[in-house]
Amino acid sequence: MDHKGADTPSIAYKVFTFEESKKNTQESLSVSIPEVLDPQYGMYVWPCAVVLAQYLWTQREELRGKTVLELGAGVSLPGVVAAKCGAKVILSDSTKTPLCLENCRRSCEANSLHDVVVMGIIWGEISPDLVLLPKLDIILGSDVFYEPQDFEDVLVTVAFLLRKNPRAQFWTTYQERSADWSIEALLYRWKLNCVEVPLETFDANKSELAGSNLPGRHIIQMIVITLKTEDVGL
Ligand SMILES: C[S@@+](CC[C@H](N)C(=O)[O-])C[C@H]1O[C@@H](n2cnc3c(N)ncnc32)[C@H](O)[C@@H]1O
Repeated sequence: MDHKGADTPSIAYKVFTFEESKKNTQESLSVSIPEVLDPQYGMYVWPCAVVLAQYLWTQREELRGKTVLELGAGVSLPGVVAAKCGAKVILSDSTKTPLCLENCRRSCEANSLHDVVVMGIIWGEISPDLVLLPKLDIILGSDVFYEPQDFEDVLVTVAFLLRKNPRAQFWTTYQERSADWSIEALLYRWKLNCVEVPLETFDANKSELAGSNLPGRHIIQMIVITLKTEDVGL
């Protein structure tokens, strides 16, 4: 154990390697994610993040040149993978947790990503920074539906961004933690459409992914949320 000063966080680097399994190529991508040895939510990679990152890896050709915003990024594995695949990435976490914003920056540094923007976005708050975001193509959220009291705030932010960017999509993974939790009524209230992406369609139905045993036995789902089709044409 490295004994550092009280203010210096202890960091451990985890490497994730994404490989092409279907096409007959050697293509792969390795990213290194610094985790802070601290039991707070945004300090380490959650199982949902590996699944979302695997989806991004399989969509890498579509990602090139797209503008991608990650919400509640924490240590930012999906956003880092998107940036490595050629997307213009904005990472965000709550302004109230500056340590998480520091983690976003540290993950960029660890992967030599110098053009990624890091900013504070609090779910449910329509701040000037949120209003001034550039045109977005994809919004990411890994394990942002983990506290039922925050579900509507997440969707308020997503609905606001999708109304500003009617053709954008919200790609999100969540962990099934309770059979009672549902976002269905909220999707209806905020006029959002939701489609499930089965894990087997992007090779993520495994307990080990990207060289990590993180998905483990957790039940993770991947969904794509968009505006209801009648609103897209507005
Ligand atoms: C369960 S962690 C997931 C972190 C990361 N996305 C992952 O999957 O590894 C939830 C993240 O959401 C952030 N968060 C929590 N409440 C938030 C809020 N009200 N607004 C913005 N971000 C928030 C936390 O700081 C944390 O980084």
